[in-house]
Amino acid sequence: MSTALPETMLAVVLDGAGPPEALDIRTVPLPAVPSDHVLIALDYASVGSWDAKLRSGDWGDVKPGTVPGVDGSGRIAAVGDGVEGFNAGDRVYSYSYGNDRGGFYAEYVSVPANLVAHVPAQIDQAVAGAMPCAGLTAHSGLRALEVEREESLLVFGASGGVGSMAVWLAARAIGASVTGTAKPDAFDYLLKLGAAYAVEPQDSQFKHGFDAALFTTNGDTSNRWGAHLHRGAALAYPNGVEPEPQVPNHEAIAFDGEMSRAALDEFNKAIGTQTIPLNVDVYPFDRVVDAHRRIEAGHVIGKIVLQIR
Ligand SMILES: NC(=O)c1ccc[n+]([C@@H]2O[C@H](COP(=O)([O-])OP(=O)(O)OC[C@H]3O[C@@H](n4cnc5c(N)ncnc54)[C@H](OP(=O)(O)O)[C@@H]3O)[C@@H](O)[C@H]2O)c1
Repeated sequence: MSTALPETMLAVVLDGAGPPEALDIRTVPLPAVPSDHVLIALDYASVGSWDAKLRSGDWGDVKPGTVPGVDGSGRIAAVGDGVEGFNAGDRVYSYSYGNDRGGFYAEYVSVPANLVAHVPAQIDQAVAGAMPCAGLTAHSGLRALEVEREESLLVFGASGGVGSMAVWLAARAIGASVTGTAKPDAFDYLLKLGAAYAVEPQDSQFKHGFDAALFTTNGDTSNRWGAHLHRGAALAYPNGVEPEPQVPNHEAIAFDGEMSRAALDEFNKAIGTQTIPLNVDVYPFDRVVDAHRRIEAGHVIGKIVLQIR
């Protein structure tokens, strides 16, 4: 099933690793839609620090013709023959890392249908575009830590993408008592997300102990915060955080954001009918170079997205 589709689209293309200026907007063929895929007409593509690392060559060579971007939101434009549960026009979001059909910095993306979910009705489309990777990663981390209602959780590095989503999910979906570290200009934001306490990473006066800790970064003061863990409490960090956080006598769990139908269903169930005050900085598609300069400058509060249409 499909609406009338063009043969070509605009996409951001890399012909090799390079600075932000290597991101070139050009016309390319529409990606194919195998039988287990859907085609999404994208509204927003998330811009993550990992996109900048891929672009710069930190992760190795970049194949000519690479379209970056691993997550975003849009509407179903076409459905593969073997796919059920999606119809043209449905509002959806997806996290699809390592997708050989192309990335999300484009007018259309073809993704496996089991990596796509309907956007909850009350969630704004820009927030939906910012959320899939950060949200599923935060969700996987909280699950690895088995965080429960009324437990105390530390989110070290709480104002970025994964941190914001971890604070919100732990506080508002699970009912945990969350302490987040951030620079003071993000304190009000963390409290809005549901944190009980917002503290600077350099704070040495904080007295509370924690039942679990999620590290989205590693810094000079990580070990000091690790010492606040209760006996037997674990810490977790997404793969990519370097150097890997370690706290003597505490289990350290490395994890990836799970990409699966089950994870998406659980994530949507956790959101329920709530809205999420995720801070989203919107860049027009043709300012993708500026979006990458911004992400590389650091201290993004919340997320950056590209507005595609
Ligand atoms: N394996 C996976 O599946 C997966 C998926 C997604 C992300 N990741 C990884 O997860 C990590 C977090 O991603 P993200 O998008 O949330 O990053 P981000 O938006 O850049 O957030 C990083 C957070 O760490 C804080 N921070 C940075 N340096 C710090 C320091 N020295 N001391 C204390 N806090 C510091 C930042 O606060 P300030 O801005 O105030 O410095 C911010 O709150 C990255 O390493 C990414 O590669 C892995």
